[in-house]
Amino acid sequence: MNTFAKISLLICFCLTIVGCNRDPTSAAGFRLPDGDADAGREAFLYMQCNQCHTIKGLELPVIPLADPPYVELGGNVTYVKTYGELVTSIINPSHKLATGYAADRVSVDGESNMYVYNRFMTVQELIDLVAFLQSHYDVVPPQFDYRIYPR
Ligand code: HEC
Repeated sequence: MNTFAKISLLICFCLTIVGCNRDPTSAAGFRLPDGDADAGREAFLYMQCNQCHTIKGLELPVIPLADPPYVELGGNVTYVKTYGELVTSIINPSHKLATGYAADRVSVDGESNMYVYNRFMTVQELIDLVAFLQSHYDVVPPQFDYRIYPR
């Protein structure tokens, strides 16, 4: 076998191993279509997400008898809220609880207090909600108060 054949064989072998090693639960290749933010705002209101959520900088109708703790959505974040993170927060809320809240305020035994809408929500509503929410996050780099060493 010449060197070229050997190298080709080695490459094929490596690709096969890599191909077989793909994690079946990986989200690689996952992409939903883009939603419509205006439709998302409507969905947010008719699904009464504002029962438990406020949105930074947005006046939303208050639902009578709703029992906060409110979890604020939108506002300044230090890193981009990705599409994947928002989709996951909505359809699999217990996967990763919102940060900045005491666990017992937003969950019971690790299960999020958020309703699971999966049996009722359409994919269109989901992607519209994500487009709407994403437009309310602003990425702001963390501000550090650098201390100049005494001269
Ligand atoms: C019964 C109360 C309740 C309702 C109704 C509700 N949520 Fe939530 N939601 C929560 C709680 C509590 C959390 C924080 C725990 C967690 O991350 O699941 C949360 C978290 C979230 C997060 C993640 C926030 C973060 O900073 O990580 C998003 C996004 C979200 N909700 C979207 C929605 C949308 C969209 C709807 C309407 C379709 C909705 N929620 C309806 C209670 C609710």
